Amino acid sequence: MSHSSTQSLRRSLGMFATGVTVVTTRDAEGEPVGLTVNSFNSVSLDPPLIVWSLSLSLPVRPVFEACTHYAVNVLAADQEAVSRQFASRKPDRFAGMDWHPGEHDVPLLNGCCANFVLRNTHMQPGGDHVVFISEVLWFTRSERDPLLYFGGAYRGLSPLA
Ligand SMILES: Cc1cc2nc3c(=O)[nH]c(=O)nc-3n(C[C@H](O)[C@H](O)[C@H](O)COP(=O)(O)O)c2cc1C
Repeated sequence: MSHSSTQSLRRSLGMFATGVTVVTTRDAEGEPVGLTVNSFNSVSLDPPLIVWSLSLSLPVRPVFEACTHYAVNVLAADQEAVSRQFASRKPDRFAGMDWHPGEHDVPLLNGCCANFVLRNTHMQPGGDHVVFISEVLWFTRSERDPLLYFGGAYRGLSPLA
């Protein structure tokens, strides 16, 4: 596809409004790692499975491919700065973050709408991404409004007119 077609496809895909998550795990040295992800979605309730995709070009890719467990943290409306930090080039993305170790020692961000702990069960090639389909082992939720992403910009919920 030409560069302009790719840009145009990106704009059409951006019309699908999503929530925003931060996917977290630990590297081989036990250091927490994470990135901002909006490709997260539910797949199956029985068995409980979720999906997300990870760009092949990201330095964290081998860490996620090797991990046995990881977490998906669904960001709340007041966590735009968290999303920006986990999508940035900052070397320590956990600096200043409020988090605690959860089941299987995965890093769980505090103040989220929901947190999920996953077992890294299936990985599939998906073009320039690797697609993770993973089993939900533990989850929680809280009554907070979500952070949304639409048309390349952060949004909040607003009531239908
Ligand atoms: C709202 C938003 C959603 C994103 N969703 C994904 C995603 O689903 N998969 C992915 O691989 N990268 C996604 N990214 C990009 C990564 O978070 C970002 O490229 C990465 O953390 C930068 O890492 P690097 O500095 O190591 O290249 C998203 C970024 C933003 C801002």
